[in-house]
Amino acid sequence: MSLTIRKVAGALGAEISGADLSADLPGSVIAQIRAALVEHQVIFFRDQSLSPEDQVAFGRRFGPLNIHPYVRGMDGHPEVMEIIKEPADKTNFGGGWHSDTSFLERPAIGSILYALELPEWGGDTLFSSQVAAYEALSPGLKATLEGLSAVHSAGREYSAQGHSAQKRGSMSVVEAEGAVGEFIHPVVLVHPESGRKALYVNPAFTLRIEGWTKRESRPLLDFLFEHCRYEGYTCRFNWRPGSVAFWDNRQVWHFALNDYPGQRRYMRRVTVDPA
Ligand code: SIN
Repeated sequence: MSLTIRKVAGALGAEISGADLSADLPGSVIAQIRAALVEHQVIFFRDQSLSPEDQVAFGRRFGPLNIHPYVRGMDGHPEVMEIIKEPADKTNFGGGWHSDTSFLERPAIGSILYALELPEWGGDTLFSSQVAAYEALSPGLKATLEGLSAVHSAGREYSAQGHSAQKRGSMSVVEAEGAVGEFIHPVVLVHPESGRKALYVNPAFTLRIEGWTKRESRPLLDFLFEHCRYEGYTCRFNWRPGSVAFWDNRQVWHFALNDYPGQRRYMRRVTVDPA
C-alpha cells in the first residue's frame, strides 16, 4: 500500500490518500501515518467509512484511548465522544482555541475526528501550529519561556459554573463537582518523537504561570494567546462526510467554527493518550 501525502499549508497540515482506515492496516502503514502526523502536526483523510468499532481499533494502533472525564461517550463505546450540534443549539463544542485535555496530568497526544453529518456550509475546523509559534519568538523570549511551567485546569470549562456546563446544548457534559484538579506542564514542550519544540499553553485550560499570580501571568499569557493564533501558523479543514482529521495535541491548537446556525453537525472523536 502506498500513501500519497500532500501538504495543505505552509506551517502545518497534510492530506493523505491511499489508506482505508477501517482496514487492519499493516504496521508499516501505521508507522508511515505516525511519521506523517509527527512531521505535519495534523493530517487529513477523505472518503472513509468508519463504524465506532473501526475508529476505536484505528485509534488504538497509536496508543490507549482516553475516556473523557466530563463528556459522556457513546453508549457501548465510552471512548467514542459524539460531538453534536443540533439546529437549535446556539453554541458548539470546541469553539475556542485549545489543545485537548491539557487539563489532565497526562494529556492526550492525539485526537482522531470523523465527520458523519455536516451543515450545508460552515463548520470548518482551524488548526494552529504551536511549533511555528514557538519558532517565531525571539531568542530572548524563547530562553525565558523554557524556564517556565504553566498551570492547567478544566475548571473554567467543565465545573458547574464552567463554559461547557452552561452552554452544553445537545452534548452530554458531566459537571465536575467542586474543585477541579490543576496540573503543571512546561510552557515549551519538547516533542518526544521529533525533539521539536512547541508552545504548550492554551486559552481554554491554562490558568497561570506556575509560581506567578494570575495577575502577573495575564500579560504574558495574553501575549502568547494572541501570538499563537497568527493566521500564518494556521490551516483550515473543510469537512465532507467521511473526512477524518488526526491532530497531534503536543504541536497544535484547534478551533471548531460555529458559523452554521440552524443546521446539524455530527462528528465522532477518539482521543489517544500517551502509552
Ligand atoms: C474538538 O475536538 O475540539 C472539536 C473539533 C470539531 O468539532 O471540529
